[in-house]
Amino acid sequence: MANLLEILKKKEVVLLLVIAFLALLSGGAWAMYQTQIPPEQPIQFPHNIHVGLQIQCLYCHPGAQRQASAGLPTQQKCWACHGQLRKYSDPAAPVALNLWPTELQKLAGYVERNEPIPWVPVYQVPDHVHFNHRPHIAAGFACETCHGDMSKKTVATVGETVNMGWCINCHLENSVEDPLKRTKLIDCATCHY
Ligand code: HEC
Ligand code: HEC
Ligand code: HEC
Ligand code: HEC
Ligand code: HEC
Repeated sequence: MANLLEILKKKEVVLLLVIAFLALLSGGAWAMYQTQIPPEQPIQFPHNIHVGLQIQCLYCHPGAQRQASAGLPTQQKCWACHGQLRKYSDPAAPVALNLWPTELQKLAGYVERNEPIPWVPVYQVPDHVHFNHRPHIAAGFACETCHGDMSKKTVATVGETVNMGWCINCHLENSVEDPLKRTKLIDCATCHY
C-alpha cells in the first residue's frame, strides 16, 4: 500500500492517469481523426486550383505563423476574389448566378445569407494535447512536411499518420545534438496539460 502511494505521488504517474482519463473523454473525436477519411465539406474547395494560382497558404491560413491555430477562411475572404472575378460576377459583364459552377453558387449563398461556412475540421489533435503552429513555422518547417502536397488535393485529407509517435520521432530527430532541447521536446508536459 505504501508503495502504491509512492507511485501515485510521482508527477509522471498522475499526469499519465489524467491523460488516460482525458483520452477516454475525447476518444470519439480522435477516432475520427485516425480514420483519415476526409469528411464531407459544405463546399468542395479546390486547393489544387488556388495553390496553382500561387495564392499563399498564409493568405487563407494566416494563424499558422503567429498563433496555435492556423484558421480557416471566412466567406468574406473568398468573396474578396469571387465577388469580382471577371469570369462570373464582373459588374461590367455579369453572368447569371444559375450559370456559375455549383460550388460557387453555394459560396454566393453563404455570402448572401451572411452565414459563416461551416468547414469540418480534418486535422485535429485531442483536447489533452497541446499543438502550436508557431514554433514549427519559426523552425523553418514547410506546410507540406506535415500536411502533404496541397497542390494535388481538392479538400484537405490527412496524409501522414499523425499520432504521438509521429510528433516524438520528429522531436527526437531534431534534437540529436542538443540534450537540453531533447529533454524539453520529449517531456510529457510539453505536449500534455
Ligand atoms: C485570391 C483570390 C481567390 C480567393 C481568396 C479564393 N478564390 Fe476561388 N478561385 C480563384 C480563381 C482565380 C479561380 C479560378 C476560377 C476561374 O477560372 O474563374 C478560383 C476557382 C474556384 C473554384 C472552382 C470554380 C470552378 O470553375 O469550378 C471554387 C469552387 C472556388 N474557387 C471556391 C473558393 C472558396 C470557397 C474560397 C474561400 C475559401 C475561394 N475560392 C477563395 C480565386 C480565389
Ligand atoms: C509540424 C507539423 C505541422 C506543420 C509544419 C504545419 N502544420 Fe498545420 N497542423 C498540424 C497539426 C498537428 C494540426 C492539428 C492541430 C490541432 O488540432 O490543434 C494542424 C492543423 C492545421 C489546420 C486546421 C486547423 C487550424 O486552424 O489549425 C490548418 C488550416 C493548417 N494546419 C494549416 C497549416 C499551414 C498553412 C501550414 C504552413 C504555414 C501548416 N499548417 C504547417 C501540423 C502542422
Ligand atoms: C484560397 C484559400 C486557401 C488557400 C490559398 C489554401 N487553403 Fe487550405 N483550406 C482552405 C479551406 C476553405 C479549407 C477548408 C476545407 C478543407 O478542409 O479542405 C482548407 C483546409 C486546409 C487544411 C485542413 C484544415 C483542417 O480543418 O484540418 C489544411 C491542412 C490546409 N488547408 C493547408 C493548406 C496549405 C498547406 C496551403 C498552401 C499550400 C493551403 N491550405 C492553401 C482554403 C485555402
Ligand atoms: C516535422 C517535425 C515535427 C513534427 C512532426 C512535430 N514537431 Fe513539434 N517541434 C519540432 C521542433 C524542431 C520544435 C522546436 C522548435 C524550436 O526550436 O523552437 C518543436 C516544438 C514543439 C513545441 C514547443 C516546445 C517548446 O519549446 O515549448 C510543442 C508544444 C510541439 N512541438 C508539439 C508538437 C506536437 C503535439 C506534435 C504532433 C501533433 C508535433 N510537435 C509534431 C518539430 C516537429
Ligand atoms: C511531442 C508531443 C508529445 C509528447 C512529448 C508526449 N505526447 Fe502523449 N500524445 C501526443 C499526441 C499527439 C497524442 C494523441 C495521439 C495518440 O493517441 O497517439 C498523445 C496521446 C497520449 C496518450 C493517450 C493515448 C490514447 O490512446 O489516446 C497518453 C496516455 C499519452 N499521450 C501519454 C504521454 C506520456 C506519459 C508522455 C511522456 C513520456 C507523453 N505522452 C509525451 C503527443 C505527445
